[in-house]
Amino acid sequence: VPSPPSSALQIQEQVTLAPFTTFRIGGPARFFCEVGTEEALLEAVRFARERGLRIFVLGGGSNLLISDAGFDGLVLHLAIDAPTQTVSAGATVEYQVAAGTDWDAFVLSVCEQGITGVECLAGIPGLVGGSPIQNIGAYGQEAADTIDSVRALDLESMEFVTLSRDACGFSYRHSIFNTTHRDRYIVTQVVFRFDSAATPKLTYADLTKHFAVQIAFGETPTPIQIYRAVREIRHGKGMLLVDGEQDCRSAGSFFKNPIVPATTLAGIATALNLDPATIPHWPAGEGQIKLPAAWLLERAGFVKGFALGEAGISSRHTLALINRGQATANDIARLRNTIQQEVSARFNITLEQEPVQIG
Ligand code: EPU
Repeated sequence: VPSPPSSALQIQEQVTLAPFTTFRIGGPARFFCEVGTEEALLEAVRFARERGLRIFVLGGGSNLLISDAGFDGLVLHLAIDAPTQTVSAGATVEYQVAAGTDWDAFVLSVCEQGITGVECLAGIPGLVGGSPIQNIGAYGQEAADTIDSVRALDLESMEFVTLSRDACGFSYRHSIFNTTHRDRYIVTQVVFRFDSAATPKLTYADLTKHFAVQIAFGETPTPIQIYRAVREIRHGKGMLLVDGEQDCRSAGSFFKNPIVPATTLAGIATALNLDPATIPHWPAGEGQIKLPAAWLLERAGFVKGFALGEAGISSRHTLALINRGQATANDIARLRNTIQQEVSARFNITLEQEPVQIG
């Protein structure tokens, strides 16, 4: 007979998940528990184990598509938010950040101290604990550039372990946490390490354009200036969550930018009757290129403001699918499938969904 949870652990039943996601989509969790400490996390995992329940860890809900049927297990709403510890040694600054800390608030505090390394990741919704899982990235930076280690509960040994950056196996939107070791670890803390003497490097066109005048005068923008610029650019693209804006009921980029052999370019050029040199793309190493999924969508007829019932495409960025008001997960899936089929038929490219799919 499973033991009842201790009085400290509040387990709720049949909790609708939609309000916990930025898409505002998702059915009920059979069991739901708010977890504020590592001890509570252990206890909640034991509760699930004793009942043979599957576990899903919910963070900021910003990169998530939960089915209308919901989740038939225990949802752990991660709210571990102990204060950030800062350790300085010479020119190195280390931040030990609890998984439940708001990502943007952490970025802001680093920028306010004049430290470079995460300013391009301003305005990304979600929690610090989610940052290593899909190795969040934007405007030329990714979390993996500054993550030093990750502390997590290992569900195999039921011990808390520290994984070095190398052990995390980071690449574009990937880590061991969403690939080889999916469902094995629950991240409770992330340690970031910065060189406090470094100055920002701007690589991304959107940003160099924004600071063109300053750069022309030989000045380097400060981290806090870049922080503000990135938020402004993201807002313009509907990629900053602003309450009440329809374009914000999304999960950010809905598709990954596909990495394909460089030879693919010729086929696309032929299909669209274009000069291959005019097709936007970035080198991705080993004879591969990365193509902007947004560009492919537009060429396949899925433009800003496109609607299919209650599901649609943001009016400000083609890569964001949106809930136009009453969309179900099924509505989003229908639009996703329509887009994937069309892009595959036209360009022979398989677009991969970026948000995590639950249920
Ligand atoms: N483009 C369009 N139409 C649009 C937007 C973009 O055709 O409406 C084309 C253009 O050719 C443009 C190119 O796509 O030059 C790239 O667009 P953008 O700079 O907006 O970036 P992205 O590739 O669409 C990626 C990340 C974003 C991140 C931005 C900025 C992925 C899947 N997405 O988007 O991350 O903020 O770069 O660095 O890698 C997210 O992952 O949820 C996310 C928002």
